[in-house]
Amino acid sequence: MTKVRTVFGCQNCGYQSPKWLGKCPDCGSWNTFVEEQFSRAAERSASSISISGQDIPPQSILTIETSDEGRIKTEISEFDRVLGGGLVTGSIVLIGGDPGIGKSTLLLQALDRLGRKRISVLYVSGEESLRQTKMRADRIGVFSQTLYVLAENSLEKIIEDIQKLKPKVAVIDSIQTMFTSQLQSAPGSIGQVRECAGRLMLLSKSTGLSTCLIGHVTKEGAIAGPRVLEHMVDTVLYFEGDRGHPYRILRAVKNRFGSTNEIGVFEMKDGGLEEVANPSELFLAERPIDVAGSVVISSLEGSRPILVELQALVSSTSYGMPRRTAIGVDPNRVSLLVAVLEKKVGMNLAQQDIFVNVAGGVRVEEPAVDLGVVSAVASSFLDKPIPSKTMVIGEVGLAGEVRGIHQAEVRMKEAFKLGFKRCLLPRSNLSRIKSGFDGIELIGVGSVEEALETLF
Ligand code: TYD
Ligand code: MG
Repeated sequence: MTKVRTVFGCQNCGYQSPKWLGKCPDCGSWNTFVEEQFSRAAERSASSISISGQDIPPQSILTIETSDEGRIKTEISEFDRVLGGGLVTGSIVLIGGDPGIGKSTLLLQALDRLGRKRISVLYVSGEESLRQTKMRADRIGVFSQTLYVLAENSLEKIIEDIQKLKPKVAVIDSIQTMFTSQLQSAPGSIGQVRECAGRLMLLSKSTGLSTCLIGHVTKEGAIAGPRVLEHMVDTVLYFEGDRGHPYRILRAVKNRFGSTNEIGVFEMKDGGLEEVANPSELFLAERPIDVAGSVVISSLEGSRPILVELQALVSSTSYGMPRRTAIGVDPNRVSLLVAVLEKKVGMNLAQQDIFVNVAGGVRVEEPAVDLGVVSAVASSFLDKPIPSKTMVIGEVGLAGEVRGIHQAEVRMKEAFKLGFKRCLLPRSNLSRIKSGFDGIELIGVGSVEEALETLF
């Protein structure tokens, strides 16, 4: 008889305990412990596989050979860029996102592109039947012969098929629906998720197979069975976006083979996801012209400047407590900037509700948008529009000073490309900007007061 070890695992962080606990001592969450059983044989077999597949002694770092052929390009350039230039052979990528955001669609499209290059690829679905996958494939127009589909939940069966078929890339959709018979807990529990991901990782490292795992995201915004998986895999990507908007952003949060600053922008259409090569144009397409409270700002997503519209609405409050609501920007930052406007510019906003929103469902998390927030709020409060071909960038300090931002020149170039006529930027940045912006008026400002005087 195989010996079975019973442990209780926290479903939130993976902490293990020999007895049941109400509260996890590691992450502090309540009622997350579930009984999991491991067989000793399974643990031994897992620990005896090495990641290189062979028994290699320690080597001098100078003698290890590397090659550049290690990347497979999917030819979806937005996807490749986020990966750092393509899928690395033998790597394991986790792609998380809300249900219905388009994870399955994106990866099926990527596999199709690879298949068209005659690369053998495998799509394993644990959620949909072969017919359902085929229906999706028809919708997005899949034409490749070397794209194989498998509807399976058993990890042992999947590994066996991978070893037989020997694909170059495999997609597991999703890791939460897979189970190994060596554990008795239910699919989706942290033990199963970790064990399945671990086994697939060893398979990838030892055979050079690139694996993409699709992971669901919990309500709190973490990939279910989260931290354990994020540690294990090479790359973690999040596919995010607002359900009400067609735009989707693919973001790298961890990448052992590339920068985590890159994003890819897609638009969900009837025939699948389409790359958006120029996101600024898209985000500015529906901007109202000469309306108070709207301003164009520049947000740097990785090495990529994106122009987006920021809107503010200031209206007198009907309750004792004025409301401050911010979507797409940090609400605390908005409160801070409103306080600066009150104290340093003398605007009386105490009896005003203030709503701030970034159009298109985009999130900007940079201090460079501060001056934009200040301008939009002031514009709405004064009911004076900011001219439509004006971009505003700069960080605002508590003393009302406008501070320099990084990569100002890159942002200016994007504005220039889109035909902007005027740009308000921190004075310290202006002095460092080289020429090459003919036809765009650059105005350096040192304080919020100065900026508002220039604008209104
Ligand atoms: P899906 O890839 O199934 O999402 P996930 O795997 O992240 O759960 O995407 C499903 C949504 O995308 C669904 O609401 C329909 C929409 N969709 C389109 O708009 N166009 C398409 O071509 C496809 C395939 C899906
Ligand atoms: Mg799916």
